Amino acid sequence: MTTILHGNILHAPRFGEVSAIPKGYLAAEDGALTYVGETLPEQYQGLPVEDWGDRLILPSFADLHLHAPQYVMLGMGMDLPLLDWLNTYTFRTEARFADGDFARKVYRKLARELIAWGTTRVVMFSSIHTEATWILMEELEAAGVTGYVGKVNMDRNSSPDYQETCEESLRETERWLDGCHFAHVRPILTPRFTPSCSDGLMAGLGKLARERNLPVQSHLSENRGEVAWVKELHPDCGRYWETYAKFGLWKKGTLMAHCVHSDQAEQAAMAEAGVVAVHCAASNVNICSGTAPVRQLVDRGVWVALGSDIAGGDQLSMAANVVLTIRASKVKAMETGAPFLTVPEAWYLGTTAGHRYFGGGEGFALGGRLHAMVVDDSALPPPARELSLQERLERSLYLMEKDCIAAVYSDGRRVK
Ligand code: GUN
Ligand code: FE
Repeated sequence: MTTILHGNILHAPRFGEVSAIPKGYLAAEDGALTYVGETLPEQYQGLPVEDWGDRLILPSFADLHLHAPQYVMLGMGMDLPLLDWLNTYTFRTEARFADGDFARKVYRKLARELIAWGTTRVVMFSSIHTEATWILMEELEAAGVTGYVGKVNMDRNSSPDYQETCEESLRETERWLDGCHFAHVRPILTPRFTPSCSDGLMAGLGKLARERNLPVQSHLSENRGEVAWVKELHPDCGRYWETYAKFGLWKKGTLMAHCVHSDQAEQAAMAEAGVVAVHCAASNVNICSGTAPVRQLVDRGVWVALGSDIAGGDQLSMAANVVLTIRASKVKAMETGAPFLTVPEAWYLGTTAGHRYFGGGEGFALGGRLHAMVVDDSALPPPARELSLQERLERSLYLMEKDCIAAVYSDGRRVK
């Protein structure tokens, strides 16, 4: 099947660079990009074209860190720091997902909202529940969201109604893995964070990661209280990252959310291993974790992508999260003098840097899967003069409403 889109194409082939093709064409065959350029090539002449007129054709968003069960507590508990927030709101909320009917209702809505906001690739935390995690994967698949989902592992420091034993956790993880058969949503191992996982559980997960060649996600150096606690739990580890490395969980492609308090040595360990830092600006400000040194991470060769981290983050919209990334970096800039992240830089992090995790290329690169959205900015305030495509992109990111997103394509399929 051939898809041909016509409109104003913008994408981010490199960090800090926006490429614009006014009134261009984009073609995909069986979901793989075959052409991006100014004129329609000969072989496509006469085929149906989806003509988006003056609208913007952009890459969809990739959200590399969010907690699906926390969708129901969005905008709550925002006056608490991380560890109190987990104990007061989060574990209790996640425990509700033992109820499959409740999970179905919530996850159906979440999956549809993600598409409505133009997010087509995700890496998610579920809860500890095997059934609810399958339900989440099913609902994402049905809505057209692609990526990775993890059944959460935690066998210590939670509440009695929301904790597994080490044996249960490993047994359930294997049962869950054996029942994953989804075309676009794959499993990722998910030790919640070091304080939630005994050494035995971490070792078991490390073994599974190796034996089944599975990716891993967790949290790293988010909050000062958490970092101090990890030091107490692992006095033999000089730094937080070593508590994952010790058990084979620190490897190429491991996703680590936050990295707010990662020092130079921890950043170097990330760059060397090929660990990906997932920056969650909204969450870091909301629960007073700090502002991550994003530019420093990038300059030191760490691969950085963005996450909404709902419900530490309060915005599901990745356009909003791109803007919050810029805003957080400006606060850091005003305090330290370090240069802030520009619109093209933050947009790259929210699109290309994330899509690359799933095998995407640099922007709309040929051979990559079609993950795109069409933005209609005509309902935004009337501009005083004709705007360049870059200006329209900037304004759309800052002012994005769900209604601005006219169409969404995920893995080549139109899903909105
Ligand atoms: N660290 C461990 N669990 C969580 C969580 O659910 N959210 C955030 N922001 N940090 C965590
Ligand atoms: Fe998180």
